[in-house]
Amino acid sequence: MTTERTLSIIKPDAVKKNIIGKILQRFEDNGLKIVEARMQSLTKEKAKEFYKIHSARPFFNDLVSFITSGPILILVLEGENAIEKNRKIMGATDPKKAEKGTIRADFAESIDANAVHGSDGQDTAKGEIAFFFKN
Ligand code: CMP
Repeated sequence: MTTERTLSIIKPDAVKKNIIGKILQRFEDNGLKIVEARMQSLTKEKAKEFYKIHSARPFFNDLVSFITSGPILILVLEGENAIEKNRKIMGATDPKKAEKGTIRADFAESIDANAVHGSDGQDTAKGEIAFFFKN
């Protein structure tokens, strides 16, 4: 077991639904600490840079439009196996395939409006945290 940090984003759909508190509660209930938090609206430029790994995918333009459609809450979560733990708490990317009791199964509408983002590995977590939190 190792203490890790991971990047989490509460996306515009969840912010609009006023369920930030419910989502944060799930992180805390599962032993993840919120060690950084910032609410902001991303510019298209910043969104394209953040999601550049997906730039060749057919859904890229929709993804950028969606993530810039309203404010998001950007978080760093810390805890034992935080990266994998957060992915379990979130559930599958497509809410239709997400396990019951996960954030996406309970709160998300579609694969685009899927409530949360979470880093998918150690290198990604490091890069994504540095992308938003310079220190
Ligand atoms: P996220 O974890 O933020 O990473 C990239 C996002 O692209 C993903 O969540 C989804 O919201 C979105 N997306 C849309 N279509 C797809 C798809 N077919 N496969 C993966 N991600 C998709």
